[in-house]
Amino acid sequence: MNSAAWERVDELIDKNQNKTIKDYFAEDPERAQRFSLEAAGWFLDYSKNRIDAEMMKALVKLAEKSDLKAEIEKMFTGKKINATEDRAVLHTALRNMDPKAKIKVDGKDVMPGVRKVLAAMGDFSDTVRRGVWRGFTGKRIKYVVNIGIGGSDLGPVMANLALTPYTKRNMKFFFVSNVDSTHLAETLREIKAAETLFIVASKTFTTQETMSNAEAAKDWLVQQLGSKKAVAKHFVALSTAADEVSKFGIDVKNMFGFWDWVGGRYSLPSAIGLSLMIAIGRNNYKKLLKGYYKMDRHFRTARFERNMPVILALLGILYHNGYGAESYSVLPYDQYLSRFPAYLQQMDMESNGKCVDKNGEPVTYTTGPIEWGEPGTNGQHSFYQLIHQGTHLIPCDFIGCSVTHNPIGDLHDKLMANLFAQTEALAFGKTAEECEKEGVEKKLIPFKTFEGNKPTNTLLCEKLTPETLGALVALYEHKVFVQGVIWNVYSYDQWGVQLGKVLAKGVLADLTAKKPSMKHDASTNQLIARYRKAVGR
Ligand code: F6P
Repeated sequence: MNSAAWERVDELIDKNQNKTIKDYFAEDPERAQRFSLEAAGWFLDYSKNRIDAEMMKALVKLAEKSDLKAEIEKMFTGKKINATEDRAVLHTALRNMDPKAKIKVDGKDVMPGVRKVLAAMGDFSDTVRRGVWRGFTGKRIKYVVNIGIGGSDLGPVMANLALTPYTKRNMKFFFVSNVDSTHLAETLREIKAAETLFIVASKTFTTQETMSNAEAAKDWLVQQLGSKKAVAKHFVALSTAADEVSKFGIDVKNMFGFWDWVGGRYSLPSAIGLSLMIAIGRNNYKKLLKGYYKMDRHFRTARFERNMPVILALLGILYHNGYGAESYSVLPYDQYLSRFPAYLQQMDMESNGKCVDKNGEPVTYTTGPIEWGEPGTNGQHSFYQLIHQGTHLIPCDFIGCSVTHNPIGDLHDKLMANLFAQTEALAFGKTAEECEKEGVEKKLIPFKTFEGNKPTNTLLCEKLTPETLGALVALYEHKVFVQGVIWNVYSYDQWGVQLGKVLAKGVLADLTAKKPSMKHDASTNQLIARYRKAVGR
């Protein structure tokens, strides 16, 4: 992180340490408008933060000193910014709607391939949705089961739920990810083999969980339909690894490809979105990509002072590095966005959970905040107490949609009233004097006083649509990118998840072998022995 630019931010934190969000509002009647902006269908009000114009200037300087502009261009133009894997990072190419766009990787334009796969996905999803694609026994497809994990699952799960009003209601969509057999078993109970399409989604097509579930699903299907030939009509693959796909037994003509420059957690707008496209149709899927593209263009072209992803990233850094906030919470006031916080966890924490910088040196500051959240108003009756009166500082992003898909009486007014009221309460709190005026018993005043001064961002769109969802996802993708640039870490590799995977293979051998090696530490050996005894080995 650029230390000179950061020092200035630190100085301002010190200078304003006795000022609260309330003070800032009292000082500047224009504050709400000053610290708000619109982009790609989203309105961001970030005025309820511990900032003033001077602080924003210092934060923008930090971005500039980190060469952010040049880094953004490197990403959009296909430079190999994922250096530890020697790969470009081009999820933005997947939703580039400019028909003339040319983006080269290793001298080859990637856009014709992107358009070709998108068209093939569109044709395929049309045939499934219209009942032209039939199962082995001639029945039309009613159930779609996406088998994948991590980025090959979380995006489709999140978006399928988010866009429920746009989905084909006479079809049912399932997502199997966990290697816990319960996940597959409970799904198989809900479906009929003759009417099911399994989508095996895996960038590498070697992921243990996905391949184990896919093999088990294949065995089940063959057993249910009585022929191996049924696989061709009931299995398709989404992958970058054609050889692995055909080894598994899926004809590569039933494979939808993508490329090594699409990171798993950024892959929703690639072939990985096929289950979503079948659910909402190719036109709505295009609108989703359009939303992504609008936010991409905003991010690439807007000056940092008016750039939504940059502002969110800088505010995150202010609290994380300047105030020691270890986590932040994303609180969608929309039931359809229930899985959005879980989706963001992988995007943010797998990207920036890094402890060495791009030179391989240990970082001297903290990186990678912990992201968590639940939809409102449910969270209010659960963990909000800690945000209001606990000892941790937890900045929050509140997300709301002004128009509901499901108007019932005044429920939506109440939902939105809660959202706005929470941000008000968090920022302004309640003083002892206010409690006293309300007649609160003296001995209860310390417990009923709210410190306030808790920072929040509020993101509002008119309605949750494919387009606004795409823009929202892109907003957070770019926020994570900006933070990675400022922390000077590689955001697009994930070596940290490898060790557990490798060790699991050795443990599995010891769980199942006649004569286990038991070469582990004493605790692991004990657990293995206990398990073996319980299952009679
Ligand atoms: O375990 C981490 C990870 O590599 C993620 O980055 C990825 O999204 C997930 O596994 C699934 O990988 P694949 O799509 O290759 O099955």
